Parts: sequence; C-alpha cells; structure tokens
Amino acid sequence: MQAGDWDARYAERQQWSGEPNPLVAALVWDLPPGDAVDVAAGEGRHALWLARLGWRATAVDFSATGLARGRAQPGAGAVTWVTADVTGWSAPPGSQDLVLVAYLHLPDPPMTDLLRRAVGWLRPGGRFLLLGHDVDNLARGVGGPQDPAILHSPRRLAPVADLLEVDRLATVPRETPAGTALDTVLWGRRPSSPGASV
Ligand SMILES: C[S@@+](CC[C@H](N)C(=O)[O-])C[C@H]1O[C@@H](n2cnc3c(N)ncnc32)[C@H](O)[C@@H]1O
Repeated sequence: MQAGDWDARYAERQQWSGEPNPLVAALVWDLPPGDAVDVAAGEGRHALWLARLGWRATAVDFSATGLARGRAQPGAGAVTWVTADVTGWSAPPGSQDLVLVAYLHLPDPPMTDLLRRAVGWLRPGGRFLLLGHDVDNLARGVGGPQDPAILHSPRRLAPVADLLEVDRLATVPRETPAGTALDTVLWGRRPSSPGASV
C-alpha cells in the first residue's frame, strides 16, 4: 500500500486502539527510558505510550493523516512526529535506545534492508523490537495482510537477528475477537562488544 492508501484508511476512522500492543508493553514497560524510534508509527499509539513512560520518542510514518491522528492525542507534544518514507529515512547512527517496528509489512529487499539499517541506529546495548503478522497466519491464523511476500517469519528475519544478541525470535499467538492470530516477534539488543559490527 502507498502513502495515499494509508491516508485514506486513516481519514475514514481511527484504525488501531489507543493502547500499545500487549506484547510490546510487556517487553518494554520496565526498560529505562531513553531515545526511541517508532518506525511506521501510524496513529502513534506506541510513541505516545513511550512518551508517557518518559521516553524521547520519534514517530515516523509516511501517512500524514495517520500521524495527524496521533498529534491530536493528549501528550502528543512530547513526541517528535516525522512524515517520511521509512525506506529512505534514517536516525543518526548509534543514537537510539529502542527501535520499535510494529506491523510494518514491506516486500524484500526493502524490508530486510530497512531492518538491518535500523539496528545501526541503536546504541550498543540498545533494544530492537519487531512485531508483525507471521506468514503462518495465512494457514493457521486470522486477520492481517494475505500476501506471503510481505509477511514475517523467524526465517525471514534471520539476517536481522544475525546483527543482534537475540532474546526472542519466534512465532507467537495473539488472541483477537475473531480468533487466534499468529505474529512474529524479534526481540534483541545491539551487541555491546566493540568487535560486533552492524
Ligand atoms: C498496520 S499500520 C501499523 C501502525 C503502528 N505501527 C501500530 O502498530 O499501531 C502500518 C503503518 O505502516 C505505515 N507504512 C507502510 N509503509 C511505509 C513506508 N514505506 N514508510 C513509512 N510508513 C509506512 C503505514 O502508513 C501505516 O501507518
């Protein structure tokens, strides 16, 4: 989908709940706040939540309409809002304590290229969290995009995981009103050792 398609969706109505995804919240809530980028932030539910926890959050998305919804929320002044195509946008190298990518689905090579670049935005020890619809969702889950070329899997994320100290790379269930959905999670940190390269 192009930026205009997402603008149209966001113009129609609010797309996501204002609450963070429960797995994002469970993994991130007790980290010490620092600098964070919410990649493809949409309406900014995660960036707004991070800012409430004391993070300096930057929300990047190519849908100006989606970001406008986030900007209209209480606390939005604490978030930096950036309208940009994330395949061409970068944070300064080594500037972030958290990179969050939630439910961004692009074909390859742009998806993997972006994620590998995004690891480089982290400070040593900084946290990387990707969550998105898993390709197994097509056969065994509900909802999400139906094009296997843009769905995640632990195997597809291996070239990103190779750059991280990985705490979790897995397919995980997510309960929805329509049934059980399957997500891929990649949760890790940029290695602190000077020998590690990104
Ligand atoms: C399913 S929404 C997820 C929004 C948000 N991460 C969340 O979890 O609430 C996907 C988002 O990706 C954004 N997006 C898709 N391709 C993009 C690109 N190339 N550059 C920037 N944003 C993009 C869309 O505008 C949309 O807001």
